[in-house]
Amino acid sequence: MVKKAKSPVTYAKMKGIVSYFTALIKDKKLRSSHPIYHHFYHSRMDFLRPEGSLSDDDRATAVCYSNPVREEPQSQVSAGDFDYLKVIGTGSFGKVFLATHRENGKYYAVKVLQKHIILTRKEERNVMCEHRVLLKTLNHPFLVKLHFSFQTKERLYLVLDYACGGELFYHLQREGVFGEARARFYAAEMACALGYLHSLKIVYRDLKPENILLDSAGHVVLTDFGLCKEGMSGRGTTRTFCGTPEYLAPEVLLQEEYDRTVDWWGLGAVLHEMLYGLPPFYNADRLEMLRNIIYQPLALKAGVSSAARDLLKRLLNRDRAKRLGAKRDLIELQSHAFFSPIQWDELVAKKIQPPYVPVLSGPGDLTNIDPRFTELPVPHSLGACEDHGANFPGFTFINENILSLTRGH
Ligand code: ADE
Repeated sequence: MVKKAKSPVTYAKMKGIVSYFTALIKDKKLRSSHPIYHHFYHSRMDFLRPEGSLSDDDRATAVCYSNPVREEPQSQVSAGDFDYLKVIGTGSFGKVFLATHRENGKYYAVKVLQKHIILTRKEERNVMCEHRVLLKTLNHPFLVKLHFSFQTKERLYLVLDYACGGELFYHLQREGVFGEARARFYAAEMACALGYLHSLKIVYRDLKPENILLDSAGHVVLTDFGLCKEGMSGRGTTRTFCGTPEYLAPEVLLQEEYDRTVDWWGLGAVLHEMLYGLPPFYNADRLEMLRNIIYQPLALKAGVSSAARDLLKRLLNRDRAKRLGAKRDLIELQSHAFFSPIQWDELVAKKIQPPYVPVLSGPGDLTNIDPRFTELPVPHSLGACEDHGANFPGFTFINENILSLTRGH
């Protein structure tokens, strides 16, 4: 049977991170020989170096290295360096906050995870770590950037770019549907991000409007890597999945093997929702919808161009071997007629003017964030300095972007 999402709030679904931290906790016990320990301390991520261990008082610290080769600590970042202003997202393991760095005044989205919730969750095998994916994918224009991560006694912190344009879903809900040019632009940017993840052997698996944010200029920012599956090569397949049923490919629902083509199904589902206002096979009765996804022929109403409908049919092909993208991944999508107006090099260079530019008063603007988040209280303890907590070895990282804090740009 399909495992249903545990929480109706899909913003910060962090199941992957649970398995990762469970592994880290285990790893702590097996320090000298465990391969995960080895992975983190001999990572291919040259620009990142983990902190060896936390200081005695377990203060949240991250060590900054100016030079990726020389491992010389340069500065420290901690929970107390930020002012936590508003809740901008919630999930079963914690919340996402809008925060400013006290020294440079920059805005960040800080994902704060409760250690005790992570520790009491059961290990979920084969579910991959958001943290590692974030670290791996630092430099794609349409993937959220992790600046650094650190921990306190109670919590784990991921400091990310703040995508102040809000959820694509928030805009879609308010507007009902998007015009084709707008839908094409978002679908094309998402396709680039997915193709990039696939090139790193990562299957995103959870593409849906809530996980697609907009930056201040209106470009796509894919977030929430909690359900990613790592280490899947072109022909690799897997069977594990926990996700939102609306966007699940039939092979996942049927617990058959699946591969990176689930992301092209997901893109088809999101594109359908952007163009028609509802996901494909939608039915208010969830069971009926699951049945539809598996058995019902795809019926596409008029009012959408034939190129768009052809693309939807090809992406939402139940036979994953025949699905668009099955053979040459992103390249196949890029040459589809629906995307013919897209200049892909320009797109990925962010040289194409987004069809919608969020109306913002400044970098910390909250008008595009759902009030159901921003109305929630911000705990005072977030920036507190805490003593003696369970260490999560390997969590505390910093990327070279941190230099923007110390250099003040
Ligand atoms: N919600 C979750 N992550 C976010 C981010 N990086 N920016 C804005 N809102 C978010």
